[in-house]
Amino acid sequence: MRTISIPPAEVLVLADSTTLCRAATDEISRLAVQSIVTRGRFTIALSGGSTPKAIFAQLAADHAAGGSAVAWDKVEIFFGDERNVPSDHADSNFRMASEALLKQVPVSAARIHRVRTELGFTAAAARYEEELRATFLPPGESPPRFDLVLLGMGTDGHTASLFPGTRALHESKVWVTGNSVPQLNTERITFTFPLINHATEILFITGGPDKAAMLRNVLRGDPSGQTYPSQAVRPTQGRLRWFVDEAAASAL
Ligand code: 6PG
Repeated sequence: MRTISIPPAEVLVLADSTTLCRAATDEISRLAVQSIVTRGRFTIALSGGSTPKAIFAQLAADHAAGGSAVAWDKVEIFFGDERNVPSDHADSNFRMASEALLKQVPVSAARIHRVRTELGFTAAAARYEEELRATFLPPGESPPRFDLVLLGMGTDGHTASLFPGTRALHESKVWVTGNSVPQLNTERITFTFPLINHATEILFITGGPDKAAMLRNVLRGDPSGQTYPSQAVRPTQGRLRWFVDEAAASAL
């Protein structure tokens, strides 16, 4: 493992996808235990896509092996974004996380906050914001401050479902919004930057050679001057870290 400091981010480079998965699993568990000890619960927003699946499965395996100190009944689970599909659909982030992790650990059903896509993507976003309000706010804390927000990055520089050129990039009044993504001919439900950037810990996890060029552009700046959604992730008070593998870091 090696560390690269590219302010405001700290980048941890792991040898390969296996050590990346292990390191990310250990860090999520460490933050969970720490939050539960100090605040009585751990609030986490899960990312979607393919990268987190192995990490979720490792968290579940650690629990099954008795090697995890995470009190899963004190963990509050949200989704940083969701595809506009039914929750049992193969593309659903909820389904992926449920199968890999949530059905394998004793997290209480009341603390798993599914995006209700059956309402339609705009209403689902508004409903999700209400659920955030109900779950989070001591008086005066706005937006809610997650203990940890997990993020991935696409080869186009998107994160959560904040895609280049889409309306949600500029959303500053709400915490969750429906977002039309013409480049994918679809709609998504996504956290907005104000909510993401208010977190205590923001952890990007990304790996593989196909991410190398965009990771360099996002962290070092694109020589063409073009900017990317992942660059707008800048914690207001929290910490921003990237856990990547050597293949993704090859152009840094
Ligand atoms: C989603 C994600 C998305 C993801 C990136 C990276 O729902 O698709 O939240 O932002 O993190 O697309 O995805 P991979 O890990 O599959 O490369």
